[in-house]
Amino acid sequence: MPYYTKLGKLPSKRHIQFRRPDGKLYAEEVFGTEGFVGPTSTLYHINPPTQVIGWKQLYSTKVEYVERDTMRMRHVKSAPLPPKGDAVTGRVVLFGNNDVEISVCVPAEPMKYHFKNAMADECFFIHFGSGTVFTMFGALKFGPRDYIVIPKGTIYQFVFDEPKDGEPEPRFLLMESVNGSHILPPPRYLSKKTAQFLEHAPYCERDLRTPEMPMTFDKKGKYEVRIKSRDLVHSYEYSYHPLDVVGWDGCYYPYCFNIDDFSPIVGKHHMPPPTHQTFEAHNFVICSFCPRPLDFHPQAIVVPYNHSNLDSDEVLYYVQGNYKARKGIEVGSLSLHPQGIPHGPHPGTPEATIGATHTNELAVMCDTFAPLYPTTAALELDDLNYPRSWEHGWEPDAVESNGHANGHANGKSSKSAKSAKSAKSAKTAKSGSKNLNRVVETKAASTAVSTSAKTGKATAGRSTNARAGKAANTWD
Ligand SMILES: [Fe+2]
Repeated sequence: MPYYTKLGKLPSKRHIQFRRPDGKLYAEEVFGTEGFVGPTSTLYHINPPTQVIGWKQLYSTKVEYVERDTMRMRHVKSAPLPPKGDAVTGRVVLFGNNDVEISVCVPAEPMKYHFKNAMADECFFIHFGSGTVFTMFGALKFGPRDYIVIPKGTIYQFVFDEPKDGEPEPRFLLMESVNGSHILPPPRYLSKKTAQFLEHAPYCERDLRTPEMPMTFDKKGKYEVRIKSRDLVHSYEYSYHPLDVVGWDGCYYPYCFNIDDFSPIVGKHHMPPPTHQTFEAHNFVICSFCPRPLDFHPQAIVVPYNHSNLDSDEVLYYVQGNYKARKGIEVGSLSLHPQGIPHGPHPGTPEATIGATHTNELAVMCDTFAPLYPTTAALELDDLNYPRSWEHGWEPDAVESNGHANGHANGKSSKSAKSAKSAKSAKTAKSGSKNLNRVVETKAASTAVSTSAKTGKATAGRSTNARAGKAANTWD
């Protein structure tokens, strides 16, 4: 984290006597990074954090990647993933490399232990679900569309609320910095002198939710902390509750940031992906594509130009939007556009979206500077038609007047590229994601109303008021 904060009880100076009510000393722990020169916090435990009573190895987390030599567009429909495991064991890695692992989790059961990722910072994006993540730094209440950044070494436990009637089951996207780097706001958003968020940053300190009480659980008993290290989860046993911190201060702690608090930067012409950047770590960035007014040049093309991301692979996780604008995409889809081949708008969309004034899209993007590889789990959900979805529909009569590439062209493409496996996959995905799509369409509609209202205000006085209600997606 870029700024200093504190919670709970602290002594007046570092490294001095600080006593419990019974007269014994609290156990001070300096929780530091980068060899004592990186972000650090200092914590005061009721019990010595070194007091371990047992340990054993549990299971490997080493990810097996497949098709490492294949470069092609991919579209993985994660919506059909069935609930499994808990918020740790239920994670399904879909893409990754030596820098980052990207997984989706639909937890089926509560965590009965605490967890520490001693290998990586973790950036969660809560798609559905709410609850509390109890950490050694305090509690973070979270809800849909929250990012939760949990830095390496933090002990925590997710507790999800029971979904209310009609609400989808909890589901999150996770990006782990397996290269050991830290997930932080981009340095260009911060003052070099004070680390304060600068005026041009799309979010600031007030948008970040830091840990709150309850923080301290003064209990004895047998408690398990599962520690991920060296691609292996270990089970460590303690004779006291692992969340026993009475106070801490510093610049290293977990926090939440809701994607709706990201203030998109808009322009006269199409703005490039870095304007959507939210976090970064070594060799990858995380961006937020949020509802916003679109480019306001009178002749603007509001969808992205074709682009070759020559130095990066690009994964988009689709949260909400009008999925007709990108063929086959649905709620929970992940597209991978690899370096080595350009990508851009689907047939018909540049013309069809002319005059659109706003977008209701919501997506999380992870761009990496090294090729990403799929896992077997990704291949099982792979839409094999996707790489050919730009093939047909460029002819003028293939575009409907409302702007969506027509079904005939799409169907033709699907038919020619279809395999037995992909047909089966598509069928499963369609039925599995039906409920998610319905939920998100409803939410998109409500967002559209509010965004449209804002757009109307923003575009007052323009000669384009008549089309103020037209929306378009601009998936990069
Ligand atoms: Fe792109």
